[in-house]
Amino acid sequence: MEGVAEILLHENELPTRVAALAGEIADAHPDRDRGITIVTVLSGSIVFLADLLRQLPLKTRLGLIHVSSYAGRNRVARGPTLIGTSLPDLHDQDVLIVDDILETGGTLRLVQSAVADAGPRAVRTAVLLRKPCRRDPEPTVDFVGFEIEDVFVVGYGLDYNGWYRNLPYVAALRAGPLGHGMCG
Ligand code: XMP
Repeated sequence: MEGVAEILLHENELPTRVAALAGEIADAHPDRDRGITIVTVLSGSIVFLADLLRQLPLKTRLGLIHVSSYAGRNRVARGPTLIGTSLPDLHDQDVLIVDDILETGGTLRLVQSAVADAGPRAVRTAVLLRKPCRRDPEPTVDFVGFEIEDVFVVGYGLDYNGWYRNLPYVAALRAGPLGHGMCG
């Protein structure tokens, strides 16, 4: 595929690891009848979420939170912004936040704070990918799919300017202004 430099996570290893993550999440929620509310961060988490949801042996409902992170190359200047939410009542609920990637932590801090404001019983967080950034403060993350290097990645839901979300693998973008990640 044009623009893609290297496949980091292949099509066959993603669902395998996601299924294992679903098992870890289920083990952390032994009361199967109580159920969990997933709050997923749009839009990058949708493919991860679709695979995770179908492997999760728990009573589950879904809420959406839309955060804008990258606007082309202007992300550093803008920081994450809450665009909108579609959430069920989270009061006294067991919540699982699902996001695609943890980089500087700004997005998760914003989402975790919004969820905490709704008075949940417990909040856990799952990310598909985590980069080795210095984060201050470090957001609490309970489940991590893969640790990756600090390169800008696309595919499996992750985009560059809206493109590449449909790639069935996670790949580094070709070297260029975004060849490296934003860890700094
Ligand atoms: P922060 O820095 O807030 O970043 O932890 C998390 C959000 O930023 C986006 N992001 C990326 N998107 N390739 C992408 O397509 C990347 O390498 C990347 N790094 C961060 C993403 O929306 C994530 O939720």
